Amino acid sequence: MKIHNFSAGPGILPAQVLQEAAQGVLNYDNTGLSLIEMSHRGPEFVDVMEQAVALVRELLNLSDEYEVVFLQGGTSLQFYMAPLNLLSSTGYAAYLDTGTWAANAIHEAKRVGRVEVLGSSKDKNYSYLPDFSVPSDADYLHYTSNNTIFGTQFQSIPESPVPLVCDMSSDMFSKPIDASRFSLIYAGAQKNMGPAGTTLVIVKKDLLGKTGRNLPTMLDYQVHIDKESMFNTPPVFPIFVSMLTLKWLKNNGGLPWIGELNRQKSTCFYQALDSNPLFKGTVEKSVRSSMNATFLLNDIRLEPAFEAMLNERGFSGLKGHRSVGGYRASMYNALPLESVQELVQTMHDFAQKHA
Ligand SMILES: Cc1ncc(COP(=O)(O)O)c(C=O)c1O
Repeated sequence: MKIHNFSAGPGILPAQVLQEAAQGVLNYDNTGLSLIEMSHRGPEFVDVMEQAVALVRELLNLSDEYEVVFLQGGTSLQFYMAPLNLLSSTGYAAYLDTGTWAANAIHEAKRVGRVEVLGSSKDKNYSYLPDFSVPSDADYLHYTSNNTIFGTQFQSIPESPVPLVCDMSSDMFSKPIDASRFSLIYAGAQKNMGPAGTTLVIVKKDLLGKTGRNLPTMLDYQVHIDKESMFNTPPVFPIFVSMLTLKWLKNNGGLPWIGELNRQKSTCFYQALDSNPLFKGTVEKSVRSSMNATFLLNDIRLEPAFEAMLNERGFSGLKGHRSVGGYRASMYNALPLESVQELVQTMHDFAQKHA
């Protein structure tokens, strides 16, 4: 049976990438060695790293003002590392509280210095995006472009008179963006890029080295930049698979191509959701996420029957996060349009049966 993988993360990767990754683990490029059992300083892995960085630069059209590194510690480490590198001891950072991950970012930044929360949607279980205005004396503005758990997404990049810092973990590489608007972008690999275990960090050079803080070596962006992501042993496998996924993305038409495909998938899903009498979305329509669609059954007594139907038809990963309940359809880059069409057909069939 074909499985439709709607997992929120680690998420679906292209089948072709999985095959290339498997081959690279067994026998990398006919070297007779596995990619994961050779030196990260040897020519083979150095080439993988260089290709990965070059693909990030090309896909996002990054200028020389930006550095690209692959780090460890997940996005959660960036919640602390970003303020440590950017927040001055006399200034303050502005944050938007739009979900669990945004709140975690705020929590960690407060360990480093002063934080002002400009707006929060916590009062309605993060089902909308708050209004805010950005003060011009903040060190930076931090926001989460896509709220993976609650299913809201910024529909455009916020206007900001101060450097913009973004946790882009769950919509990175999902559509064309103007990267030049950002001073720092970070994103865990495990949604649109590769396996868990590496975090992509893109930082504008002129922002660094201004806090006067004596940083721990591993938490200093400049160290990783100077050592080209090889201060210590990098996570070779996640970086390898990320490189393969980025190559897949480029060869298929890059961000314009994937942006259009993702638009088709989310339009297909939300139109069907809005016309189905048994289901409802959980967030304000104008800020619905193209990556993570959250929805509920109006009558929760129907959940066991719906879940049985999903299982019978090969759907995986649709259970909603415990803080929202219901269901979450994560439609990351590698999810085919057909999987979304099958899902809406199943929801339709379910409604026919139970309406
Ligand atoms: C938007 C966002 N930020 C941060 C995280 C946390 O990432 P990690 O588990 O790599 O620390 C996630 C994980 O799902 C996420 O979706």
